[in-house]
Amino acid sequence: MSASKKVYLFANWKMYLDYDESNILANAVAAASSDFATKIKMVVFPSSLSFYPVAQALGDVGIVSGAQNIHFEDKGGFTGENSALMYKNAGAKFTLIGHSERRHLFGETNHEVHQKMEAALLVGLVPVLCVGETAKERKGDKAKDVVEVQLRAALDGLKWKPKAKLFIAYEPVWAIGTGKNCDPVEAEKMCLMIENMAKALAKDVEIIILYGGSVNGGNIKEFIKQPNINGVLVGGASAKLDTWLQIVQNAC
Ligand code: PGA
Repeated sequence: MSASKKVYLFANWKMYLDYDESNILANAVAAASSDFATKIKMVVFPSSLSFYPVAQALGDVGIVSGAQNIHFEDKGGFTGENSALMYKNAGAKFTLIGHSERRHLFGETNHEVHQKMEAALLVGLVPVLCVGETAKERKGDKAKDVVEVQLRAALDGLKWKPKAKLFIAYEPVWAIGTGKNCDPVEAEKMCLMIENMAKALAKDVEIIILYGGSVNGGNIKEFIKQPNINGVLVGGASAKLDTWLQIVQNAC
């Protein structure tokens, strides 16, 4: 990655922070933003409960926010859900789609991932499609096949608007929240493969590849120096000010 190229640092706060904690962290990140604003592109994914005030506080300093998950219908009897349209109206610019916790803990299927991709594109949210294999699949030499199936199911047949952007986060399931990150060179190989495959499935779309899974201040540089890794999607270490600023500073 060239020195002038922006690095994407995406913060997935998951369900780590309550309402007050989310607002405190958002304000602290906003206050620190003048140190890094020109060098990186930061997107924060707060909980749905905290989304609006966090998006406001961060938006004031030019940091954008996104949804952790969306429902594909605009409105209706879907208890506990929030639609892509609702997030868009509340100020979201991005949305995660198909995060491994949604797939593995909540049974989200490849078909639902596709429906969410369609919904995001329809309302104009930039999708951050998450793909990745489990430890068992990697051991069985199935990582590439699994990721290919996920990519095809998500992307095949989508209608893209001109100048559309697609972020894809390669997040091996075994590396998420475990403290065991993927070897950066191995991640680079997977990211290159993902980029090539996605280019064939989403023609004329700007594709940006991220790595996710136990990224921290100590390993961030190794990931972003890989030519085909344009940034990272961070969970645990993004939900605390000190560990997040360490990542930001080392990325800068
Ligand atoms: P982690 O999570 O950084 O805590 O491993 C990454 C993610 O789930 O996006």
